[in-house]
Amino acid sequence: MSNLINRLGLRSRSLLGCTRTSWSTPKCSTLSSSFQHKTFQAYRAASTTSSTALDKKPTFITTPIFYVNAEPHVGHLFTLVLSDVYKRWETLNGRPARLLTGTDEHGMKVQQAAAKVGIPAEIFCDDLAAVFKKLANEVGVDYDRFIRTTDQDHKDAVQFFWKRLQDEGYIYQSKHTGWYSVADETFYTEQQIHEVVNPATGLKEMVSKESGRIVEYTSEMNYHFAMSKLQPKLMDFYKANPDFITPYFRYKEVIDEVAQGLEDLSISRPVSRLTWGIPVPEDNSQTVYVWVDALINYLTASGYPFHPGKERALGWPADLHVIGKDIIRFHGIYWPALLLALDLPLPKQLLAHGHWTMNRKKMSKSDGNVVNPFFAIKRFGLDTIRFYMAMDGGVDYDADYSNEMIATKYKTYLQNQLGNLVGRVSFKGYDIRRSIENGRTEAYHDSPAEKALLELLEKTPELVTREFDNRSISGALKKIFELISVTHQYLTIIQPWSLVKKDTEADRESVDHCIWLCAETTRMAGILLQPFMPDKALEILDHLKVAEDRRTFEWAVFGKDREYANGIKHRVKMFPPIMTEDH
Ligand code: MSP
Repeated sequence: MSNLINRLGLRSRSLLGCTRTSWSTPKCSTLSSSFQHKTFQAYRAASTTSSTALDKKPTFITTPIFYVNAEPHVGHLFTLVLSDVYKRWETLNGRPARLLTGTDEHGMKVQQAAAKVGIPAEIFCDDLAAVFKKLANEVGVDYDRFIRTTDQDHKDAVQFFWKRLQDEGYIYQSKHTGWYSVADETFYTEQQIHEVVNPATGLKEMVSKESGRIVEYTSEMNYHFAMSKLQPKLMDFYKANPDFITPYFRYKEVIDEVAQGLEDLSISRPVSRLTWGIPVPEDNSQTVYVWVDALINYLTASGYPFHPGKERALGWPADLHVIGKDIIRFHGIYWPALLLALDLPLPKQLLAHGHWTMNRKKMSKSDGNVVNPFFAIKRFGLDTIRFYMAMDGGVDYDADYSNEMIATKYKTYLQNQLGNLVGRVSFKGYDIRRSIENGRTEAYHDSPAEKALLELLEKTPELVTREFDNRSISGALKKIFELISVTHQYLTIIQPWSLVKKDTEADRESVDHCIWLCAETTRMAGILLQPFMPDKALEILDHLKVAEDRRTFEWAVFGKDREYANGIKHRVKMFPPIMTEDH
C-alpha cells in the first residue's frame, strides 16, 4: 500500500481504526493529528463551497472491465461502442466527459486460464490486457483511462475500501458453504442451481439455473459482507430512483429480487484456492473476491481514496455504467450496497444491454460461434461496424449478429442513403456556395415534400437529443437517417439535376433553394453522426469544408452556418462496394 500511503501522506498504521464522518473523509483514530487537521479543514472548505462548484463534474461513463481469460469478441466490442457513442455525444454537446474502460484480471477464471497454458498469471494478463487495449484503440474508443485491476493504485484502493468496510462493522468471518461457478465468478444458493445431464457426456452435473454454467460445492472459512443489513436502504434508494436501471423491466427484476430479502455476501476466498488476486489487508491467508475487486475499479479511476475537496473532480458518482444483462446483479445490488455501507454517492444509472447471439445462440467460445472483432473491423471497416452495432445492437433484447445483415445495412443506409446524398449535393453542375447564399427563399415552402423536409431540418437535433436522453442510440441514429431519407424523397421530386440544365432564372432559383436544403441536411447529418461514425462524419464535414469550430451540436441548427462549402470538390465516393457473402 506504499503508493497510497505516499499519496495521502499517511503512515501505514494510520489506515487503521477509521470511522466515517462524511462520504469522502474517514475519521481515523490513528491518523496523524496534522493529517486529520488538514483533512478536516479541507473537507470543511469543500463542504462550504457553493453547491454549483460542487455540482460541476465531468460526465463519467464506464464500460465493464473485461475478463482476460480469453480473447475479445464482438459482444465486448458492442459494450465499447455503446459507451463510446455516449461519451462522444457529451463532448459534441460541449460537456466535459470521461470514459473509463479496462481489464478485470484477478480471480479463479483467469488463474485457471493462465495455469491451463502454463504461463505465469502476470504475463498471461499482460498479453491479454494488451489485446483488449488494442481493440479499444482500433475501435477509436475515446477513453480517458484504461484501468487494469493489477494497477498498483487499484490494489491500494481495494485494500483501503476493505478497511473502511471493516471499520464500519460490515465485515465478519464465518464458514461459507455453497456452490461456486468459476465461469460466472459467483456463489449460488441451493435454490439457484439444479442437476442436468450433459448431452455430450451423458454425465449428471450441477449447474446454475440462471447461466447454465457448472458449479462446484465448496465449504470454506471466508470473510462476509453484511449486505442483508442494507436491504431497507437499498429498497429506499431504488424507489427514489426509478431510472437507476434502464431498461425499466430490468429495474423491476432487481427491485423484485431485493424485495425478497438479501443474503450476506462472501467476499474472500482462501489463498489455498485462489492466489491470483488482492490479499485481504492484514490476512494473507485470504484473497479479495474478484467482483469486489472489480467493482471498485470505478472508484479507483475516480481518484479514490478521495482527497478532500476533490471527490467529484474525476467524475464520481458515475453517470452511466454500461453493462451487459448478465452482470446486473453485481452492479444493481452488490455495488450500491457496498457504496451505501460507506455512505459514498451511488452511480446515477446502469444501462443494461442484451447480448449478441449467432444464429440465435449466445456467442460462446466452446460453441465456436464467437466473432472476432478485429476480423469484423478489417472486413467491413470500423465505421460500418460501429454503425451496425449502434443501429442493430439490442438493448432491451438480444440481437443476432449476421454478416449478411451488415452488408445489407451498409448498402441501404450507408451507400444508398448517406453516401448517395453526399454524392447528389456534390454534383458538378451545382455551385453550393451560391446556393447557400441565394437559396434562402420561402417561395417553395408549400409543397408537401418540402414541408416534410423543413419540419425534420428544424426538429431532428431535438429528436436525436430526446433519443439520447432515453438511452436509445439506435433511436437517435434512426432519426438522423429519417432526415436523410426525407431529403432524398424531396430531391427525387425536385430533380435539380434536370432543372440545372434548363438554366432559366426561375430554374436556377429553385436549384439553389433545393441544394441549400440538401446541403443543410448533409452538414447537420455530418455533425450529428460524429459520435457514431467519427471517421466518416469527419470525411463529410471536411468534404463540405465546414469550419472545425462549427462542428459541435450547437451548430446542428438549420440555417445557422452560412460559411461552409468554400472550394468544395465535386463527386465523392464515400462508401465503395464491400464484400458480401456471395463474393
Ligand atoms: N469482468 C466482468 C465485468 C466486471 S465490471 C466491474 C465481466 N467481464 S466479461 O469480459 O465477461 O464481460 C464484459 C462485458 O461484455 C459484460 O458487460 C458482458 O455482458 C458483455 N458481453 C459478454 N458477452 C456478450 C455478448 N455476447 N453480447 C453482448 N455483450 C456481451 O463480466
